[in-house]
Amino acid sequence: MIGYNLQKAKELLEEGNLVAIPTETVYGLAANALNEAAVLQIFKVKNRPTFDPLIVHTNSFEKLAQLVSYVPEKAKILAQHLMPGALTLLLPKKSIIPDLVTSGLQMVAVRIPQHKLALQLLESLDFPLAAPSANPFGYISPTTAQHVAAQLGSKIPYILDGGECVIGLESTIVGFDNEKVTVFRKGGVSIESIEKLIGKVQIQEHSSSNPQAPGMLKSHYAPKTPFFLGNIADLRAKYGQKYEKIAVLSFAISYQEEISSNIFITQEVLSPNQDFVEAAHNLFAAMRRLDNLEVDAIFAELLPEKELGRAINDRLRRAAA
Ligand code: TXA
Ligand code: MG
Repeated sequence: MIGYNLQKAKELLEEGNLVAIPTETVYGLAANALNEAAVLQIFKVKNRPTFDPLIVHTNSFEKLAQLVSYVPEKAKILAQHLMPGALTLLLPKKSIIPDLVTSGLQMVAVRIPQHKLALQLLESLDFPLAAPSANPFGYISPTTAQHVAAQLGSKIPYILDGGECVIGLESTIVGFDNEKVTVFRKGGVSIESIEKLIGKVQIQEHSSSNPQAPGMLKSHYAPKTPFFLGNIADLRAKYGQKYEKIAVLSFAISYQEEISSNIFITQEVLSPNQDFVEAAHNLFAAMRRLDNLEVDAIFAELLPEKELGRAINDRLRRAAA
């Protein structure tokens, strides 16, 4: 059931149930992070392996600091400037956080979402919320309550509707090792804006085997439809004969001519004005729309490798992997 009832969401969570919640990045599938039985339900409903740890959400830095044993100086600077926001910090956990939440790792991922309803809900609770994206494991993340309902609606008692996610990409995940800072997942906060605050950071590229690398499974965010990434003209030369019904996902270019002449059947243009923020906001919804059309293939092109373009390209590459 989809609704706007904060009190109902609060009560369900207090009773150990799951509730899908809006955030500015993507919708989360939330449970009491301190209740192991409730957290276990998250893994079941998402069909998620328990080796993939969860992010813990709170509404203030004071509450966040109580969940961890230490906050490095650079983490404090990032928190001060970018929280609430699309930033997740990996920090040494206190024992109050169940091992199930962190998949046995010593670090816990913590974040403060910048969404009015989510913050109100978190403020009303006396426990933090563990919440991965509210999609079946491996599929495209949801950016509307309807996306959540389409796939998990029958498995969870309530979806709190907070409208379309403003950012539309998951949070940027950052870890600290003495002076060394590493971005483990590119996301809604750009690497440029992090480096402006704390200097150069390392970027961990994803792999399918490294369990240290968070959410870094190579194939992820994947539509059911065969998904190809590259220059659209090259893709057309390579696969144009093989597939009949082809849809195109582009950054700014319109393929209206090719559609008129039946080479492609439809297109999604992420941002006609080449605006990365707008493209991020549209990305997952556009991928879902194309996937629901049951075309034979989707051809997608990469964005320039800067600002949010980097995080968008990361999702596109994994969708194509
Ligand atoms: O924007 C977001 O971060 C959204 C919203 C709902 O907050 N959440 C989200 O969660 O994207 P999820 O579970 O889909 O992705 C979180 C990633 C996981 O892939 C996991 O591997 C990584 O964060 N992660 C969580 N805890 C970790 C830890 N202790 N150490 C390393 N990686 C961790
Ligand atoms: Mg996810």
